[in-house]
Amino acid sequence: MLKTAQKKDEDYEMLKKMIHRKLDFNSDQYKDSHFKRRIDVRLRATNVRSYKEYVKILQNDNSEYPKLMETLTVNVTNFFRNPEVYEIVENEVLPAIIKSKNSGLRSIRIWSAGCSIGVEAYSIAMLLDYLLGRRLSEYNIKITGTDIDKESLLKAQKGVYSDAEMKDVRPAFLKKYFTKEDGNYIISEELKKITQFKKQDLISGPKMSGFDAVFCRNVTIYFQKELQEQLYMDFYNALGKDGFFVMGKTETLIGPSKDLFKPYNSKERIYQK
Ligand SMILES: C[S@@+](CC[C@H](N)C(=O)[O-])C[C@H]1O[C@@H](n2cnc3c(N)ncnc32)[C@H](O)[C@@H]1O
Repeated sequence: MLKTAQKKDEDYEMLKKMIHRKLDFNSDQYKDSHFKRRIDVRLRATNVRSYKEYVKILQNDNSEYPKLMETLTVNVTNFFRNPEVYEIVENEVLPAIIKSKNSGLRSIRIWSAGCSIGVEAYSIAMLLDYLLGRRLSEYNIKITGTDIDKESLLKAQKGVYSDAEMKDVRPAFLKKYFTKEDGNYIISEELKKITQFKKQDLISGPKMSGFDAVFCRNVTIYFQKELQEQLYMDFYNALGKDGFFVMGKTETLIGPSKDLFKPYNSKERIYQK
């Protein structure tokens, strides 16, 4: 019995190494329970019962790697996810940022960390465009989305979406910021101009700075506690004075940054530097 468990652990370690090598995805800092659950999804989909058998599938079928990556990164998302959070963002957070830029360069920088297919970044872009109206051209706006998943980033750059992602987009925004083609929704060029996407690992990538707001939602839940604490400090340091940090509704601020951030709206998980 002990031997079987040991063998299973060895197979699991081997699988993790393959994933690191082939997908450049280092699972060491993710919660093991989460990682195993995600791999199990692919075990079931490929109809195998052990890590050892799944390793064989990966060795023999190259098309399995992208499917595994998609499953590991859990990139489910939609525009205006948790509308009650965006209500505060629209009515309080973005107006406060805009108000703080009443002179000088008027540059607004926002980071969507773990942006998946870009809908968070574009949701913020829609709100800024809506709030500023004609005054938009007086501001230098850059919304940066980063993620480790190449496929998701490609989709973000293309800006083509399906019904599944659109459920919380209000009709006026649907009309103003999208065109419909072959059943898909295409994001407007105006929003693309103020939005950029790049591949960046939150764990090993460069440290960022100078943002007015950082959104990192539904990303850190999969990470070990120590890493979460470190990332929250990274986000704190990435913000300028009075900058806002918006986290996922099921996530909790922990570690040294908890004493540094002021809660802005605890219910909606919004903090301020
Ligand atoms: C569930 S999506 C969240 C999307 C969006 N923020 C939202 O709340 O709807 C999680 C995203 O985190 C990304 N992710 C996971 N680990 C990451 C890492 N180490 N660095 C950057 N992005 C990561 C995944 O690729 C995935 O696209």
